[in-house]
Amino acid sequence: MFERRLLIPGFRRILHGGDYNPDQWQGAPEILAEDARLMKLAGVNAVTLGVFAWSSYEPTEGHFTFDWLDRAMDAAGRAGQRVILATPSGAKPPWLGRRYAETRRVDRQGLREPYAGRHNHCWSSPVYREKVAIINRRLAERYAEHPALGMWHVSNELGGECYCVLCAEAFRAWLRERYGTLAALNEAWWSSFWSHGYAAWEEIEPRDEAVSTLAVDYRRFNTDQAIDFLKWEMEPLRELSPRVPCTTNFMGLLSGFDYARVAEVLDVVSEDQYPAYDGTDPEAWRAAVGVSMKGDLYRALKPGQPWMLMESCPEAPQWKQPMRAKRPNVHRTEMLQALAHGAEGTCYFQWRKGRGGREKFHGAVVDHAGHEHTRSFATVAALGREYERLGALLGSTTPAEVALVYDWEVKWAFERSEGPDQRNHAYERVCVEHYRPFWQAGISVDVLDSTRSFDGYRLLVTPQLFMLKPGVASRIRRFVENGGTWVATLYTGYCDATNRCFLGGFPGGGLGEVLGLWSEEWDVLGDAATRTARGVEHPSFPLTGTLRAVEALEVLHARGATVLAAHTDDYYAGHAALTVNGFGRGQAYYLGARFDEASLDAFYGPLTTKLGLRRNLAAPLPRGVTVQRRVLEQREFLFVMNFTPAPQRIALGGRAYRLLSDDARVEDALVLEPFASAVLTTP
Ligand code: GLA
Ligand code: GLA
Repeated sequence: MFERRLLIPGFRRILHGGDYNPDQWQGAPEILAEDARLMKLAGVNAVTLGVFAWSSYEPTEGHFTFDWLDRAMDAAGRAGQRVILATPSGAKPPWLGRRYAETRRVDRQGLREPYAGRHNHCWSSPVYREKVAIINRRLAERYAEHPALGMWHVSNELGGECYCVLCAEAFRAWLRERYGTLAALNEAWWSSFWSHGYAAWEEIEPRDEAVSTLAVDYRRFNTDQAIDFLKWEMEPLRELSPRVPCTTNFMGLLSGFDYARVAEVLDVVSEDQYPAYDGTDPEAWRAAVGVSMKGDLYRALKPGQPWMLMESCPEAPQWKQPMRAKRPNVHRTEMLQALAHGAEGTCYFQWRKGRGGREKFHGAVVDHAGHEHTRSFATVAALGREYERLGALLGSTTPAEVALVYDWEVKWAFERSEGPDQRNHAYERVCVEHYRPFWQAGISVDVLDSTRSFDGYRLLVTPQLFMLKPGVASRIRRFVENGGTWVATLYTGYCDATNRCFLGGFPGGGLGEVLGLWSEEWDVLGDAATRTARGVEHPSFPLTGTLRAVEALEVLHARGATVLAAHTDDYYAGHAALTVNGFGRGQAYYLGARFDEASLDAFYGPLTTKLGLRRNLAAPLPRGVTVQRRVLEQREFLFVMNFTPAPQRIALGGRAYRLLSDDARVEDALVLEPFASAVLTTP
């Protein structure tokens, strides 16, 4: 068993605070004094300092001053807060960008960017590394022993790609390491296609997406470059403050990096989330499903450990159009949603709105009005008070019987392979579609990278597992043999880890045998088109009625699998649409189409009943309401959340609970206002 840690060693609090930029207010001591007063009022216990403060520490090359940070660290210490101290590499000071052109990225057209913006340094530039190492070491030397230092926030929202000469060289070196010889690379890349047989490493052009394996490898390389840069950044931090955990803030599912790998080098997983649910929209819960799935993914990146929201916002972010005001209850529910999925900190971007810059109208805790008499401030302050009681859940875990695979490399391979239907971010969207029935039933899920162990789960769901990374097929096989239930979908096992197609029929890698079928071809449908499949009466699986295939389907041949539903339309009428195959002691289901929501419910409903999967509340939930569960020894914490603009009555399945916020007893049913949520606990 893992040892459960706190986000900040020795600090038994739900982290509550956020990005604080006193460097922008040095000319206004009265504002800084107000900040101290308001933070106390809001119960702030964590502040993130210095995310973009490099030009304040080193206004000209080699000349350092840390005056404001000294004062801010001391002020935080006096207030009993912990500082999440950033390394400033997310934005370069002007002197650096101008003097050292190589630190600026080159785009796909070969143009070097001007000095501008942020989050745009070259991962491979030796100069940038040198300058970052200097400033990071200065920060570590100065603050390693500071009692307020709680965590390192390394850089900010790592992202993007660079196509400069240095990156191209680094890519080629990475390829040599991976493949050893050009012969092996040519083979893996199928490079005789379009006359790409490489005779020298220098011939490899990183932007050449004609070679679909190159495109995937470039993303793998880019992840490794970012990891290498992170490790470089952390060297002085870990050397001088070995007990202070390091994190970097992630950005959801759409990142170009494989966060499962980045997380391995970090101590704490943190994430930036701006759901800003539209509190007037009856369909807003759909967005909440995706946010929950992200929470389950971030939690599972470090099994058994808490994660945190590094950034979120009590109001709307300015980049989200239309920038609707957050309706009452919405913000609290957003924060509880993170806690429900294993977070133990919810911090904000940002504490106080800056007067200028692109983000001057981005939501914040303290508005330009400057006082505490705003909805935003009141909401945050109320959460601060509530967290005093919610702290009881620190150290609790979120056990799950279901694992769902979301894998960045699979996504890259899928998206870089022309042919399979890609509409509307199909890879992650379909993952969310298969996650939804569990969310709606209040069944906990761990969202995992495909290389992780599936031991201990009862059900494994792998939507569109297009690429099989090394060892994955054999682990799935063992999982089923040993009695596990596996649900696979169309586009499973098309390519191996080099993104070359399997020969001998899909699903490849031996998975066709586990599933007892062969997929002959696919059909892709127009936006509004559907194809019908009818459930076949089967004693062990009561799938009756009609299923509706949308977007894409496969024409299947059962080879031993039992057909649970068969197509009734088009030239594939009579072919299997949904099958199950007994394999070893387990069962392998195949959904040979993208199905609509009702069809997925018609499948997952009986399946979860058949498996007896644990529901977090033993009663059906109204649509748009979910229940997530954390456990601390014998004690349960149930997060009941209403993501609809209507009040909802939630039956409690005959058990009595207490509200964690005020100890009130709840029996029979809980009534939640629009977008409200509650944390129930067992005595
Ligand atoms: C053109 C080219 C072929 C092939 C096909 C694909 O016809 O000449 O090499 O790329 O398109 O449709
Ligand atoms: C990101 C950044 C922050 C800020 C917010 C605005 O999360 O990390 O610095 O720009 O976006 O939403």
